[in-house]
Amino acid sequence: MADPTAPILLFDSGVGGLTVYDALRDVLPDAPVIYAADLAGLPYGTKTEAQIAARVAGLLGRMAERYQPRLACIACNTASTIALGMVRDVLEIPVVGTVPAIKPAAALTQTGTIGLVGTEATIRQRYVDDLERDFAAGKRLLRIAAPALVGAAEGKLRGRVVDPAVIDDVRARLAAMPGGDGIDTLVLACTHFPLLADELAAAFGQQVRQVDGAHGIARRIAHLLDGQTFTATGPNRFVVTGPLAGAEGLEAALASRGFAPAEAF
Ligand code: DGL
Repeated sequence: MADPTAPILLFDSGVGGLTVYDALRDVLPDAPVIYAADLAGLPYGTKTEAQIAARVAGLLGRMAERYQPRLACIACNTASTIALGMVRDVLEIPVVGTVPAIKPAAALTQTGTIGLVGTEATIRQRYVDDLERDFAAGKRLLRIAAPALVGAAEGKLRGRVVDPAVIDDVRARLAAMPGGDGIDTLVLACTHFPLLADELAAAFGQQVRQVDGAHGIARRIAHLLDGQTFTATGPNRFVVTGPLAGAEGLEAALASRGFAPAEAF
């Protein structure tokens, strides 16, 4: 049985994994959490597979040693679709990944046309090809990279206004693809993007349903930890790689979620 004070480690390149954190609080409100944002490595989406795999496996190995978590969650689609297997080889605890929610989207679509918005690295992964083949056969899955949304979400959590042109560009590029005007379901294949749900709804319209994996991941974590006890020894921790200045402006977003002020890894 795990030490009741042992945390769950949530890992992302930035603040995107907070969407998984929010869902996790709904199902395991008392579980101690350490959230790690690799701000020194942000963004992952424009890096190569080799860079992402080495960075994520190396960091998670060191973080697991330092924080002794009972479970680690890679709350990042880019890192999960590339490095999940490698991280599982490195860590001796359960590791939960985040993969694009193609399966639920395929079950929801009425028109049969699904838009998938992710990072450049995520949308080119074979992992995504496999999900499409296994769960969206007979549907049309239109993929686009939207790296600017990562910066927009990071800015929003720091209190900055989201430029509507950045969101509209995503809508317009999807609409311009063959069959794009039939999209009724949007897979948010990057954990940062649900932070922009309101802005996306304003651009795409309420008739386009947004689907992401956060609640499914939270349920999976709760299932894996079923029967375990949780004792918090203080507020949850938010650690960042690189200079602490990278977390400036996040104070309100962290405090409202019950985190202590950001600290350096
Ligand atoms: N939050 C990450 C994801 O889910 C990506 C952001 C980045 O490019 O670092 O893919």
